[in-house]
Amino acid sequence: MKKTQAYIQANQQRFLDELLDLLRIPSISADPAYAGDVRRAAEFIANNLRISGAEHVRLEETAGFPVVYGEKIIDPKAPTVLVYGHYDVQPADPLELWESPPFEPVIKDEIIYARGSCDDKGQVFMHVKAFEAMLATDNLPCNIKFMIEGEEEIGSNNLAIFVANNKELLQADVILISDTAIIANDIPSIDVGLRGLSYLEVTVQGPNRDLHSGVYGGAVANPINILCEMIASMHDEFNQITIPGFYEAVQELGASDRAAMAQTPFDLEAYQKDLGIASVHGEKGYSTLERASIRPTLDVNGIWGGYIGEGAKTVLPSLAHAKISMRLVPNQSSEKITQLFTDHFKAIAPKGVKVTVTPHHGGEAYVMPTDTIAYQAASKALAETFGKEPVPTRGGGSIPVPTVFEKELGIKSVLMGFGLDSDAIHSPNEHFGLFNFYKGIETIPHFFKHFYALSTK
Ligand code: BES
Ligand code: MN
Ligand code: MN
Repeated sequence: MKKTQAYIQANQQRFLDELLDLLRIPSISADPAYAGDVRRAAEFIANNLRISGAEHVRLEETAGFPVVYGEKIIDPKAPTVLVYGHYDVQPADPLELWESPPFEPVIKDEIIYARGSCDDKGQVFMHVKAFEAMLATDNLPCNIKFMIEGEEEIGSNNLAIFVANNKELLQADVILISDTAIIANDIPSIDVGLRGLSYLEVTVQGPNRDLHSGVYGGAVANPINILCEMIASMHDEFNQITIPGFYEAVQELGASDRAAMAQTPFDLEAYQKDLGIASVHGEKGYSTLERASIRPTLDVNGIWGGYIGEGAKTVLPSLAHAKISMRLVPNQSSEKITQLFTDHFKAIAPKGVKVTVTPHHGGEAYVMPTDTIAYQAASKALAETFGKEPVPTRGGGSIPVPTVFEKELGIKSVLMGFGLDSDAIHSPNEHFGLFNFYKGIETIPHFFKHFYALSTK
């Protein structure tokens, strides 16, 4: 292990330079204009895996963007770790809010600023470099398989098909994912939960064309007014969601789990200050940490319609649109929730408008037990490199893949992430600390060491 860590030290700068090259590729999966770049990012990862010593490296084609596969089998009888991550990123807009261009990474005060620096290229790359270091120093105790996809940010639909069709290839003892956050750089933690997701788009149509808002205003349903009312009605005075049946399947956390959660380090004042808000807001009866992890939500992600250009135009628009996401918790089915939303949305629409609901994508919530070898290995690894036992936490974000792996391959995932919630993922000025990047590279070999030891005990 000493040799491996010394290798990492000696190659620090090169590892960083390589990552910066990867960050220069605008691999935005949601926008067809970047399709060529998304593929270039896949090729970059594949090449880097090859140089790092992985074998059978290839792009596995799907109906969408390719999956990068690579492996190093040291011994068919040794335990196998499958590393999952994603090379696609979220769109970078609003561009004017970036202090430096999203795909021209800069390092300021030991922090890398670029889209994808934390989510998830920076974290994927920690694994590639930790692998290089382990292999180069003859210190890779487990077989390793890489599966790095390019459609995580758009729902991983093709990956689910790829996994179902490649069960043999993907056989492993654990899936290791770094695509989440720790509580703070001096408070290591492991996410043991992810929320599910139902994402859809709605359209409300009023009159068959835009109208003069004076000639017709007051007499014809304004679809934007109506859409706002409909959306507003979906939360009650306790900030609970009013869709009938929405909470039916929700697993309530037991008193002891809630008590444990209340022990999780959390600084409300710092949280509010970081976000520039005077107060938090959410479902009555739950703490901020609970609201953002173990409770389901409904949020408008975008809303548009009518005139949004310079100056004023008096118009009663024909159409109004919104993109809406619901974060889901264990036991809620994203398909069922999408249906409940659709039925309710149609039911509450007044006669004067027509509504359509188009589902985008979904995924199921995931909760990981802590009494597994994989969790123990991650916990020991983090304890060693941070000098502190990690805290198990429930994350609020979604990664559709762990449920797919569990269903198709029966393999559990461990979420050993190294970002921070304040890294501004999906936002302008996304960043990733050099501390976090290097801490990840340093910790991963310890995970392999402990996973091997615990598996062969
Ligand atoms: N890495 C995030 C998910 C995440 C972030 C989990 C922080 C826990 C903590 C992932 O790339 C992501 O953004 N997922 C999407 C879901 C996807 C289906 C579009 C999300 O959560 O919005
Ligand atoms: Mn991610
Ligand atoms: Mn993301």
